[in-house]
Amino acid sequence: MTSSPEHNAPCHVAIIMDGNGRWAQQKGRPRLIGHHAGAKRVQEIVEACPDLGVKYLTIFAFSTENWKRTQSEVGGLMRLFKRFISAKTQELHQKNVRVRFIGDRVRLDDRLTDLMDTLELLTADNTGTHLTIALNYGGRDEVARATKRLAYDVAAGKLDPKSIDDETLPKYLDTIYLPDPDLVIRTSGEARISNFLLWQSAYAEYEFIDTLWPDFTRAEFEKVLSRFGRRDRRFGAVKA
Ligand code: IPE
Ligand code: IPE
Ligand code: MG
Repeated sequence: MTSSPEHNAPCHVAIIMDGNGRWAQQKGRPRLIGHHAGAKRVQEIVEACPDLGVKYLTIFAFSTENWKRTQSEVGGLMRLFKRFISAKTQELHQKNVRVRFIGDRVRLDDRLTDLMDTLELLTADNTGTHLTIALNYGGRDEVARATKRLAYDVAAGKLDPKSIDDETLPKYLDTIYLPDPDLVIRTSGEARISNFLLWQSAYAEYEFIDTLWPDFTRAEFEKVLSRFGRRDRRFGAVKA
């Protein structure tokens, strides 16, 4: 096990935490049991970040497409988010974690958004790991919302269309305060990104691993990070 940061650890790791449902089904249990087991892993991975040199961790908790699931699964997930946030607020603060949420809050209930606001506010000055939780997040939805705000600024005369370049849109995205992810990990064996950080991951490295999210341990996280350290990132250039 590595205890000191890898020389070239990824600064920002984003994780598509997939496979909770299958983990539960394999055990003959209801899908929600898998989501609860998945939530337990989050704490372990967040706590590993400072030792491993990961400054930013972004986790995909609920997508704009996940509303298509049964009412009972969606309801159970919303209750789990509330319970998780209330239970972890003090602990995350004590561990110096700065928490922020991305995604569209409009469809979330007031009790949940209040808990999200409280956690963000309480941890706003923390200087440790930056944890971003994507909740009711979809990359296309985010780009659409950003474009709408950008268009309003143009209409109000605050933004000159002639000045728009590839640095303009990111200023309107939910992730304005984040560097782009260096590494995107998806658990559960699916090799797709399911509408996650579309703009931001243009140059991310990807790791699709078979482990189901509730089985994803710190040891496996360390292995994935050390593979990242051996990758050759060229960003379109040719090495001298
Ligand atoms: C990921 O696990 C968690 C959420 C999408 C909320 P899944 O619930 O997608 O688990 P599988 O993919 O069905 O196994
Ligand atoms: C992506 O997983 C969303 C989250 C992990 C929150 P899904 O399980 O919803 O994605 P698909 O349906 O396999 O594309
Ligand atoms: Mg899934």
